[in-house]
Amino acid sequence: MTLLITGAAGFIGSNFVYHMLETHPEERLVALDKLTYAGNLDNFSALTDKQRTRFDFIKGDINDRAFLDRLFDENDFSAVLNFAAETHVDRSIHDPQVFLSTNILGTHSLLGVCKDRWYVKGRWEEGRCFLQISTDEVYGSLGPQGFFTETTPLDPHSPYSASKASADMIVKAYYDTYGMPVLITRCSNNYGSYQFPEKLIPLMIINALAHKELPVYGDGRQVRDWIHVADHCRAIEMVLTKGRPGSVYNIGGGNERENVFIVGKLIDILSDMTGDSGINPDLIRNVKDRPGHDRRYAIDANKIKNELGWEPEINFEQGLERTVRWYLDNRAWTEKVISGEYMEFYEKNYKNR
Ligand code: NAD
Ligand code: DAU
Repeated sequence: MTLLITGAAGFIGSNFVYHMLETHPEERLVALDKLTYAGNLDNFSALTDKQRTRFDFIKGDINDRAFLDRLFDENDFSAVLNFAAETHVDRSIHDPQVFLSTNILGTHSLLGVCKDRWYVKGRWEEGRCFLQISTDEVYGSLGPQGFFTETTPLDPHSPYSASKASADMIVKAYYDTYGMPVLITRCSNNYGSYQFPEKLIPLMIINALAHKELPVYGDGRQVRDWIHVADHCRAIEMVLTKGRPGSVYNIGGGNERENVFIVGKLIDILSDMTGDSGINPDLIRNVKDRPGHDRRYAIDANKIKNELGWEPEINFEQGLERTVRWYLDNRAWTEKVISGEYMEFYEKNYKNR
């Protein structure tokens, strides 16, 4: 069987490539990525020669329907897993357009090519599946109590989350209208290796190592539910292999933490690991809040636990230490990815806060 993995050169996509090649020795993977600032071919450098015999990378844009048609002419995909997206909320606030084109229209191009190939003589071919990787941000924001379930109404607040919610609705429409075998996963905040250092955890790590300010938005009491990327990848695999077509599955780590706690914890871990006394709480700077900032996310993951038997396995404190260690051991990777286009955005976003 051949799987198409879009956005494969990004953070979660590349972790998923490793996970599938390790756990499914019979599958061939085609990894598609536009290689935006967030996609990096170095993320595949740890693949073994043996794994590479079942792995192909192709550079391309999910918005490019002619390209997708050629790709589907050359491959008989049993499943498409759509990780490709613009993913950073702050960037979506500065410039929403590309979020709408990739996250909404790009998802629709993929659905269109799958329908053209998999819906033959009035019926869907057996064993096909379109899996949309979505986010808990589509549900909006919680107060101090409660959890997002799969039936919580969608209430996105940023251009990013609105674009992901729109994509979810289009995927659902393909199920409702055409009976397309689709699945949607909505996961909470991931952390782990290969995460682009624009997101909270890797940004704080690389800034602290350089003794740069650690920008905490607003009062820093916002809550995210953290999950190690390896637990997320295992959940996606289970949804792909056992999920009920037409279903949504929430995925969460059960690790609700305030941002200020995360930043303090990273300072502790980094100063212990490096012995560098310059990494201390004096680096923290409270900056202007993110507009429309969601206060709290918390996931009810009972559906995936009860239906598919998935539960997170990685202890948060241990996972965080492992992640810090990875960034310490991979300084060259970080130096490379934060050059160029990304730095320009970073300067604009943080300097004027
Ligand atoms: P990422 O930004 O690290 O990776 C996204 C990848 O998509 C990049 O490699 C980029 O080059 C590629 N891409 C962007 N536009 C493309 C296009 N038009 N065509 C082809 N490729 C394109 O993001 P991530 O954190 O790995 O997120 C992956 C998916 O998981 C996204 O759909 C995101 O919404 C979802 N998600 C992320 C999290 C999280 O905490 N990071 C949580 C839940 C869901
Ligand atoms: O919940 C899932 C989502 O998690 C994914 O869908 C998104 O793609 C992913 O980017 C992430 O969104 P967040 O906005 O929650 O992640 P981010 O790392 O940008 O921010 C986490 C929290 O930390 C948030 O409350 C904002 C805050 N923050 C972030 C940065 C980058 C700061 O206080 N300072 C910062 O410099």
